[in-house]
Amino acid sequence: MSTNFTPAPWPRRLRSQEWYAGNSRDTIYHRGWMKNQGYPHDLFDGRPIIGILNTWSDLTPCNGHLRELSEKVKAGIWEAGGFPVEVPVFSASENTFRPTAMMFRNLAALSIEETIRGQPIDGAVLLVGCDKTTPSLMMAAASCDIPSIVVTGGPMLNGYFRGERVGSGTHLWKFSEAVKAGEMTQEDFLEAEQSMSRSSGTCNTMGTASTMASMAEALGMALSGNAAIPAVDSRRRVMAQLSGRRIVQMVKDDLKPSDIMTKEAFENAIRCNGAIGGSTNAVIHLLAVAGRVGVDLTLDDWDRCGRDVATIVNLMPSGEYLMEEFFYAGGLPVVLKRLGEGDQLHKEALTVSGETIWDEVKDVVNHNEDVIVPLDKALTDQGGIAVLKGNLAPNGAVLKPSAASPNLLQHRGRAVVFEDIDDYKAKINDPDLDIDETCVMVLKNCGPKGYPGMAEVGNMGLPPKVLKKGITDMVRISDARMSGTAYGTVVLHTSPEAAAGGPLAVIRDGDMIEMDVPNRRLHVDISEEEMAARLAAWHPAHEQAGSGYAWLHQTHVQGADTGADLDFLKGCRGNAVGKDSH
Ligand code: FES
Repeated sequence: MSTNFTPAPWPRRLRSQEWYAGNSRDTIYHRGWMKNQGYPHDLFDGRPIIGILNTWSDLTPCNGHLRELSEKVKAGIWEAGGFPVEVPVFSASENTFRPTAMMFRNLAALSIEETIRGQPIDGAVLLVGCDKTTPSLMMAAASCDIPSIVVTGGPMLNGYFRGERVGSGTHLWKFSEAVKAGEMTQEDFLEAEQSMSRSSGTCNTMGTASTMASMAEALGMALSGNAAIPAVDSRRRVMAQLSGRRIVQMVKDDLKPSDIMTKEAFENAIRCNGAIGGSTNAVIHLLAVAGRVGVDLTLDDWDRCGRDVATIVNLMPSGEYLMEEFFYAGGLPVVLKRLGEGDQLHKEALTVSGETIWDEVKDVVNHNEDVIVPLDKALTDQGGIAVLKGNLAPNGAVLKPSAASPNLLQHRGRAVVFEDIDDYKAKINDPDLDIDETCVMVLKNCGPKGYPGMAEVGNMGLPPKVLKKGITDMVRISDARMSGTAYGTVVLHTSPEAAAGGPLAVIRDGDMIEMDVPNRRLHVDISEEEMAARLAAWHPAHEQAGSGYAWLHQTHVQGADTGADLDFLKGCRGNAVGKDSH
């Protein structure tokens, strides 16, 4: 299958030559300083200079091995005749950064965009892993539109506790609920902790990190097969080296993110997300990346493209297995092939390899049908993200059907409202809380502006009095996000958010809420007049930050329904070199 892409002529002058070509005082200034690292003169002769944008950090443990992996990327770049330069960039760990890593995705993207544009980089290897690192670097690369390739660090090996698979995050929620329900001791929980993170790498479930690695591959921004290779498998290092080789040719061809991340590529990624049972966080991140590259992608596209996609990857949190088994089964190429056979893939979409996505996957084989299951054994026929709308969410809210309880997908119940996360924490364990399993738990002020940063608290734990009855799921609604490793009948990203004066802000205890996923409806039983009166009387629950990045974020962040990017960062600003200050 041929592509429409025409490679640029080579040789030609690259942007790094703005710094290094000729013998002017400025050139000697730029080049001479680089030579203090022992680089020979001929490396500045116009060959592609490749920035390895490395999100390694000791405090981003999921990316803790990326310095070693970077050496393999470098080897590939040298082999292909490029000049690798490793550049540390902003790294926000999902498990460590407070108040939530999501608040810093846009800050990372902003700083990395300028890191690329302001320096002599002709192409970029995006060395990423943990949840926010992947979208932030893709957003930056899209805004600069220089040739870029994603290399993820890969997932951890399987965890096992007393013979059972333990999935990152997924079992943290499960065990913690079991302790609350009196079914597991605190000592056992501590013993289980030791089994959760067996090796280097990202979460081993189909959480947000694995989802975003899969999204990068489905978009065509990573080499085929990249997403699933375990962090410690030797093939991960091979993938890094091959990607290093490939980026050099991409620079020569001038194969840019805007050539690859077309509307069709995003539609492929959305369908892929349904097939893998991917994280709801992918919704926000892909909307944001699309906004940077200038593709008009909306929540409606998510609902339209995902509607009839069956979830065929049997991985936690929706299924049984983990990323290690997904890799052994054949990984994402098998899923993309299945989508193509079902007419659910734009086969001609271009990838970083220079080939079409179909050419990359058409000959792969599924090695384990328990892990990547046949269609008649799909985890759900409706694997896509459901986008709900109604007077409670005029701009939309999302729910992941494959992680929800089928019996709750059409539900009507009495609202039990928590005004913010502190209110939730103060009340949830109270035996006098007026709640049972038929109620709808409503959490406010956890959106992009409200938390601030839109924390992963939407899968709020159930009250112990309900858990003790053996109930494990209830309908929960919020403007928050949910970890990709989590599960439950959880409505997320309700927009507009409460802190921006959306209808969620004025829901009260006792309101009757109706959720109808098959009909995509989210409704509160109050009249238009009552809603208008409540909204007119509404005041923000919290003061906005007065200074610092929190102020910038709260002032400029957009709604979750458009990707929660900062308003002034949307779009592609290119990579033109500014004035030299010397
Ligand atoms: Fe970093 Fe899951 S917390 S990958």
